[in-house]
Amino acid sequence: AGETPHWRPAVRFAPERNWINDPNGLVFFDGEYHLFCQHNPSGDQWGNMSWLHAVSTDLVRWQELPVALEPDELGAIFSGSAVVDHHDTSGFFGGKPGLVALYTSAGDSQQQSLAHSSDRGRTWTKYDGNPVIPNPGIADFRDPKVFWHEPTGRWVLLLAAGDRIQIYGSPNLRDWEQLSEFGAERGAHGGVWECPDLFELPVDGDPARTRWVMIVSINPGGPAGGSATQYFIGDFDGTTFTAEGPADEVRWADRGADFYAPQSFSDVPDGRRLWLGWTSNWDYAAAIPTSPWRGMMSTPRELGLTDAAGGVQLVQRPVAELSDVRANRRAWGGVLTDGSDVEFRGSAVDVVATFRLGTAPVVGVDVFAGPGGRTRVGYDVAAGELFVDRTDSGEAQVSQQFPARHGTPLAVDGGVLALRVVADRSCVEVFAQDGRAVLTDLVFPDSGSDRIAPFAAGGRAEAELEVFDLTP
Ligand code: FRU
Repeated sequence: AGETPHWRPAVRFAPERNWINDPNGLVFFDGEYHLFCQHNPSGDQWGNMSWLHAVSTDLVRWQELPVALEPDELGAIFSGSAVVDHHDTSGFFGGKPGLVALYTSAGDSQQQSLAHSSDRGRTWTKYDGNPVIPNPGIADFRDPKVFWHEPTGRWVLLLAAGDRIQIYGSPNLRDWEQLSEFGAERGAHGGVWECPDLFELPVDGDPARTRWVMIVSINPGGPAGGSATQYFIGDFDGTTFTAEGPADEVRWADRGADFYAPQSFSDVPDGRRLWLGWTSNWDYAAAIPTSPWRGMMSTPRELGLTDAAGGVQLVQRPVAELSDVRANRRAWGGVLTDGSDVEFRGSAVDVVATFRLGTAPVVGVDVFAGPGGRTRVGYDVAAGELFVDRTDSGEAQVSQQFPARHGTPLAVDGGVLALRVVADRSCVEVFAQDGRAVLTDLVFPDSGSDRIAPFAAGGRAEAELEVFDLTP
């Protein structure tokens, strides 16, 4: 009773049943992408934290496997990461490659522990020397993210420690020494820092011009209320991360309400930097009305950097693999005015729209439209703001703040707005200007509200539109 199949996403990971939050242990190994995540195996509320496990060969179709890590005498299994130990630096794999996971043991205190797997992640052995990083007297001390730093020939681990990130180094994934820390005096501090990540990316694809990107999730204190993810652009020399720009500058990865604790995949074979996040918000995660599961992930996104007016900035686009499950292409082009009634149908769709801005002060695309309301994806020309409006999107009894409009500043050069909207049953992800602005919002439309309509309100605009069903 009370099950909600019409809200079950078509192209992103959701568990068969019960609660999930943060993605954990994202890694590619031996032909498979692994997705672990925070999970309560025995209930649809947060608790009994364990690592759920799923695998995929294409990042779109996920197969759920038995739970990988369950609570033990050191505590619950909080967030963490996984790497391929290609050269058996850890000594767990008899000289062969294997998977190593670092996670937080959350018991009387939070400490970092290790587990290893020699069978492609199917079974895990907890290290008998756990914890590998004991608690030094810091209450919030968690979410280890590990990567191999080639120039210094060692493993590097990021840890969220209250209001800052600590950076550790190790030759073997077991013995860790603290190298530095970052951030006590930088960025947003409206909440506790969680789930860090750090990686290097080329600017506009130029391998000779790179920057390091530090990712820090924060809860609460996000721009749409509750949880959100900030990032810093800078340099990492193997020991210390140094951010560019003014100390009080804050950059958000996604200004929607529902993109939290994203983590990037380790060991992606073609060098792409891919990540995905938990599509929810601690403000109301416990009241999400889906059943028998509660919580899902974003579509996987490819990350890049580009030069922008305010300096180098992050860009995100849905992974190329998403286009492989497009079907039933429909297209339209013409002039939109207030009276237009251009319409498509679909509740799991990929919409690619281009608007040549004219006299209309607001343009965009309505999705999940019907008798029960609509979700408006729009661009306010005078304000220079991209927004998602879910004030009339269907089921809104999630929380008081849930029915809201979320926006992000966006400059549209040359009068051409490029929108990509991935609307998948109970989630809208908007990527504008090739991923320069991103908004992710949950919505709970009723099952009859499946119309998609481009609009120009209060004037005219030229538009071109392609709509694809997403059919894995
Ligand atoms: C982030 C977080 C992490 C923690 C996990 C517990 O959403 O609070 O800091 O490890 O969730 O489930």
